[in-house]
Amino acid sequence: MEKKVVDYSQAFTQIAKTANANIPFKKALNSIAKTATKSMDVAGCAIMLLSSEKGYLTVLTAYGLSDMFIRKGALNAHKSLPEIMKGKIAYIADATRDKRAQYPREAEMENIRSVIGLPLTGKGEIVGEFRVYTHEPKIFSNKEKQILLYAANIISMMIEKYELSRLLEGEKRTSTVRTRRSDKLTKLPPSTLHTSNFSHPSEEKFARLLDFYRLEWLYETRSFPIGWDNGKVIEMFTPDFYLPELDLYIELTTLKQSLITEKNRKIRMLKEIYPEVNIKLLNKGDYQKMLAKYGYAPVNLNKVRGVDHVLFNHSQIQERIRTVAKQISLEYGDKQLILIGVLKGVFCFMADLMRHLNIPVTVEFMGISYYGKDPDQKVKITMDVDRNIAGCHILMVEDIVDTGMTLNYVLKHLMSYNPASLKVCTLLDKRVRRIIDVTLDYTGFEIPDEFVVGYGLDYCGEYRNLPFIGVLDPRIIE
Ligand code: PRP
Repeated sequence: MEKKVVDYSQAFTQIAKTANANIPFKKALNSIAKTATKSMDVAGCAIMLLSSEKGYLTVLTAYGLSDMFIRKGALNAHKSLPEIMKGKIAYIADATRDKRAQYPREAEMENIRSVIGLPLTGKGEIVGEFRVYTHEPKIFSNKEKQILLYAANIISMMIEKYELSRLLEGEKRTSTVRTRRSDKLTKLPPSTLHTSNFSHPSEEKFARLLDFYRLEWLYETRSFPIGWDNGKVIEMFTPDFYLPELDLYIELTTLKQSLITEKNRKIRMLKEIYPEVNIKLLNKGDYQKMLAKYGYAPVNLNKVRGVDHVLFNHSQIQERIRTVAKQISLEYGDKQLILIGVLKGVFCFMADLMRHLNIPVTVEFMGISYYGKDPDQKVKITMDVDRNIAGCHILMVEDIVDTGMTLNYVLKHLMSYNPASLKVCTLLDKRVRRIIDVTLDYTGFEIPDEFVVGYGLDYCGEYRNLPFIGVLDPRIIE
């Protein structure tokens, strides 16, 4: 008994020392996790953060736990230990049986029994969780809870301090790039903690794009065993991103071609072993094209600015629109239809499509915000439909569906108005680049993975006036 008191006081001192030491933030947190693990003789500890939309927990650092256990998959914060979200201590006596445990099989494999979680807070909000795991079923004494609470408070303070220092750092940086024209400070990134883990800047940019489209993401949340030797895992594959809402993994690869071959092999293995897993690979080219859409690809202005070749000429476009319009007219019959288009790219297609329909239609336009350089910004409706569409038949009209992120957002928004039906008509379908599988009811043309311009579609605002659809000279976005 006497000995334990001494041990705990040593642990308190050690945690306080670590918090004040001049060591890198994540290393300090890991050291606290280690102190807590050793002083209480438990299996391990993990410090977790709530994800961007606060639905999931991601491990920031852990001690005493295997990589496979740490990366066992997405942890839904509300299901996992709901008490945490209410700011209370949460306790699971047996993680292999408790209904709240999302990975009982993995807990069994790691030989984990009891779990205690303590909320991490910042500015009055829950920002994460400090979680402790034991090998034996364990009831935590008040003294043990006290030291864990102490550690959780210190961790919370460290996170807040870290965020603040990053904020000040950012302010210092932006103040040096203030221009005379605009004396405003550029906004700072929201939380730097989630981004600090990225192993490549392209991953961070991709995460910002997902943030913009309000798509919740988790970084490297699950490691899939893909190779065994005598029952022992010898090879694993950890996809970069997991999008829980879509149950989709995304692997970005901006590496050398030789490394891509190896990565492709791993993804092939993963698909064979886990056929139920939905994974997409985005290579450097895909990724560059995705950013080019927002004008972020390296633009070489010295090279020819123009169209490489025509994909569909004016009469091909008109003929196809006539066919699609006929199909729509037949299917809607005498139902009153509202066409809704998202500006700007859709205006040419919308104008021609409506003129070919021979059913009663009205037209609405919407505007949505554009992905910009402000990392705080999220997609929003800048101009909404200005009539009540509840109980109406809606046909959402798009010029192009590429990743599907715009359409996914707009459809969700329109669904909230309870229309009688909601269908989609797009002139162009770049299916090969899809990230979100949205249902397209009417399609003009399926197109290859090329950057297309003309007939309303732009590159950096230009080319919308071309009467045909052409492929942009690839040297422009190389
Ligand atoms: C185009 C198009 C779609 C969106 C599709 O708009 O009009 O709304 O891209 O892309 P996604 O499937 O990858 O989300 P864009 O953002 O180029 O703006 P614009 O219509 O003003 O040209």
